[in-house]
Amino acid sequence: MPQRRKIAAGNWKMHGLGASLDEARALCAAFPKPGVDILLCPPATLLSRMRDALDGGAIALGGQDCHASESGAHTGDVSALMLADAGASHVILGHSERRADHGETSAQVAAKAQAARAAGLVAVICVGETLQEHDAGRTLDVVTAQLAHSLPAGANATNTIIAYEPVWAIGTGRTPTPEQISEVHTVLRARLPDPGIRLLYGGSVNAANAASIFAISDVDGALVGGASLKAQDFGAIVRALEDS
Ligand code: PGA
Repeated sequence: MPQRRKIAAGNWKMHGLGASLDEARALCAAFPKPGVDILLCPPATLLSRMRDALDGGAIALGGQDCHASESGAHTGDVSALMLADAGASHVILGHSERRADHGETSAQVAAKAQAARAAGLVAVICVGETLQEHDAGRTLDVVTAQLAHSLPAGANATNTIIAYEPVWAIGTGRTPTPEQISEVHTVLRARLPDPGIRLLYGGSVNAANAASIFAISDVDGALVGGASLKAQDFGAIVRALEDS
């Protein structure tokens, strides 16, 4: 079976102005030839400037969402084609903040992932249970249903990455135990249409806990929010992944 290349993905969410590009430049300078894939997903307003700032470097760029249509009367939305045009190679889809803030369903996520594929983007599809679902013992039911309905037909290792992000771990400083992460990843992996699809963990990953998370088998990297905003913090996570 081919080795899955590890990936450290940074999700800047709604953070970052032009001055923040210095962090991306510093990260780029620190990793001229990284031993893992590095992806930064800034707000759409920074994509083309970040592409220019990182031009020729090893860091890939991604959007944080896209519309399911190529173009049209959808005020405020951005299409996958537009993200690709601005320099993105990836797009995060179905993040729990999109699912919660915008009521996105897994069926909509699958339609967006189709659009991403048509535009040549890799979809980073997120799944994860809420605290209530976690406490009710429904984690595996929730994430397997989200996976089943969010993956478009034809999803494979080339066009899809999955991120398991428990909602209660995002931005809270709480993380599941290694056993909990391992259990969910094992169950998700068994349901992937292609064994080469990379499976990331996300939720309060930081420089201090990265090595222990990356030691869990079946964790192919991380989707990192808060700790991806500073080159020093994210760089430490990238190094931990390189060493894992
Ligand atoms: P966090 O966010 O690392 O700040 O917890 C992760 C995410 O939402 O992707």
